[in-house]
Amino acid sequence: MILLKKATFLFILLLTPFFIEAVDNLKTDIDKTEFHILDIIQKKRDNKELSKNEINYFVQEYTNGNIANYQASAFLMAIFINDMSAEETSFLTDAMIHSGTIINFDELKEPIVDKHSTGGVGDKTSLIIAPICASLGLRVPMISGRGLGHTGGTLDKLESIPGFSVDQDNESYKRLVKDVGVCIIGQTKDIAPADKKIYALRDVSGSVESLPLIASSIMSKKMAEGLDVLIMDVKTGSGALMKKYEDSCKLAQTMIDIGKNLNTKVVAIVSDMNQPLGMCIGNSLEIMEVIGILKGTSLKGQKDLIDLSFKLASLMLIKTNCAEDEKDAYAQIQKVIDNGSALEKFKEMITAQGGNPDVIYDQNLFEQSDFRYCLKASRSGYIHTLDALKIAKGCTLLGAGRQTIDSQIDFSVGAILHKKIGSFVNQEDTIIEIHYNSEEKLKAALSLFEDAIIIDEDVPSKPLLIKKIFN
Ligand code: URA
Repeated sequence: MILLKKATFLFILLLTPFFIEAVDNLKTDIDKTEFHILDIIQKKRDNKELSKNEINYFVQEYTNGNIANYQASAFLMAIFINDMSAEETSFLTDAMIHSGTIINFDELKEPIVDKHSTGGVGDKTSLIIAPICASLGLRVPMISGRGLGHTGGTLDKLESIPGFSVDQDNESYKRLVKDVGVCIIGQTKDIAPADKKIYALRDVSGSVESLPLIASSIMSKKMAEGLDVLIMDVKTGSGALMKKYEDSCKLAQTMIDIGKNLNTKVVAIVSDMNQPLGMCIGNSLEIMEVIGILKGTSLKGQKDLIDLSFKLASLMLIKTNCAEDEKDAYAQIQKVIDNGSALEKFKEMITAQGGNPDVIYDQNLFEQSDFRYCLKASRSGYIHTLDALKIAKGCTLLGAGRQTIDSQIDFSVGAILHKKIGSFVNQEDTIIEIHYNSEEKLKAALSLFEDAIIIDEDVPSKPLLIKKIFN
């Protein structure tokens, strides 16, 4: 009898995790007969606050194909116009996270961290930070994006490394995070599928630039990674998604609020994106720049890139309690650059994801453009403007970004900035070195590069790189 009782107890104990999971799932289950999409659209149209269940209903039913695109786009437009409260935005993010798989890294004892940028020009900080942090013992399961509009994408940049694959199934992604410490992949079909569908609809129905929709889109993908800490880099300025500083601050605060409501530590930096970050724009050019920085060689024009990368990496170390303070964090970062372990980690990641690690030592292994054009200073003076948006659009016309959904990227083209805002130039000094493959494309892009530059005789004030930090 005692034996039978013991066996029953053991049986119940073994079933408990499954039972808890089933109950958890039930919590998000809703009685669909209670809701109708038309009522939900009208409620948002009339600027009334939606309940968690109404938002869950929309996300679940739209993801499952039970709500028509015309009704979903009306609903998204109502959100665009009337905004969402912090609570509604958190409900939306939570519903989108639970529309797919949530990666579970519970078996790892190391802190799980990631960094995400809202999109910029020449922004290759992720590729510097990820190997630095992984070489310092953090685990970085980075799910990144492709270029969006004029902004560059980490995945496109990585694919300029011959053989590199950003497609990994969940099992190999988890294994690489565990064994290598870092894995950078694209959004899989199982991660936040609601975001994939909603984002595609926003893109063609005029609701991309909505604060709660941007915040929930970014955060749902990131929080499905099962993170302990997320560091957000919210860009502001001409080359950013949010051009106005106040809007960027609002976006940063929205993401902090989502993190608080959903129990993930989030820190958001608002950083300058009026001029490109570092010196290189374009896919293989940017990877070469990353390799140089991980090797510890740095040029004057790369100061902003290094300062921002180190700041973001230091926050990752401090917020995971792997560094006591900023001084300790910077010393650890400098050490892994100086002793080559960050570069070694980058090489390990390339190898693990099928790329040719020899690119680290031989830049000729990257695709090279056939021609160079040196854009020279029309007069002497100080550089006041190097407009990030215009330079990015110029690079896109050369082939560095996509103009249509199925454009083929030319990895080899782009631009190298020989000067940055605040530099003094003599007439005829090269300001931008353009790498291109087609005279026709250069002709189309040249006026954008020319218009991006403003030179004046007075000394300009240098743009403040890190404008605000939200905790
Ligand atoms: N990046 C995203 O992932 N989603 C947005 O809505 C905007 C930028």
